[in-house]
Amino acid sequence: MVSESVFDAAKDYIRDLFEGDGSGHDYFHSVRVHDVAVTIQATEGGDLDVIRLAALLHDADDRKLFDSADHDNARRFMDDNGISDDVQERVVHVISQISFKGKDSVVPDSLEGKIVQDADRLDAIGAIGIGRAFAYGGSRSRPMHVPGQGFLEDMDAETYYSHENTTINHFYEKLLLLKDMMNTPAARDMAEGRHRFMESFLEEFYAEWDGQR
Ligand code: ADP
Ligand code: NI
Repeated sequence: MVSESVFDAAKDYIRDLFEGDGSGHDYFHSVRVHDVAVTIQATEGGDLDVIRLAALLHDADDRKLFDSADHDNARRFMDDNGISDDVQERVVHVISQISFKGKDSVVPDSLEGKIVQDADRLDAIGAIGIGRAFAYGGSRSRPMHVPGQGFLEDMDAETYYSHENTTINHFYEKLLLLKDMMNTPAARDMAEGRHRFMESFLEEFYAEWDGQR
């Protein structure tokens, strides 16, 4: 069992790591992923220590923010906090499988990975997901919407990382696809409501854009 003080220390660690980041990879994102993962675990089971550590540390080596060779930041935290080699390997394995990469995304091969991936994706949809998408677009100086600009389908990982889209196109390239990519039944249920909220957001957005409301 990992003691509660280690999870508190993990939160302090990532708060320091993400200090000043405006791209949506903030401290509170990782805490929300942790909290949603704990909720999913209550229904689906899985090793709670591995799930909680992986959720809190899942963006600690994100390639958009850090120049990490092999999950250096996550490993450093776990080394410094006496996490066993066995648990460390399972946590790193989970983290390595969860990221969204267009059609190169993988289905994690552990229950813990499936749950943390679901939790990360739930935080990309619904009201929070909408907020994060516009915050990300703003941080890259991207336009919200450009009428007539098409979106890309079936992107591979490199295209997904490199192409510059509008934030509205990001809904069609990622956010609206996530509901059907949930691994666990508990997450699928939570995704339904968040998905409907995004659909009504888009409907309202276009109506206002066209001066109709
Ligand atoms: P992941 O944690 O799956 O790797 P990303 O790092 O791709 O997710 O994205 C982090 C957040 O920024 C998510 O909420 C995501 O939807 C949003 N985001 C990523 N790329 C874009 C984009 N091109 N336009 C708008 N929002 C984006
Ligand atoms: Ni994340």
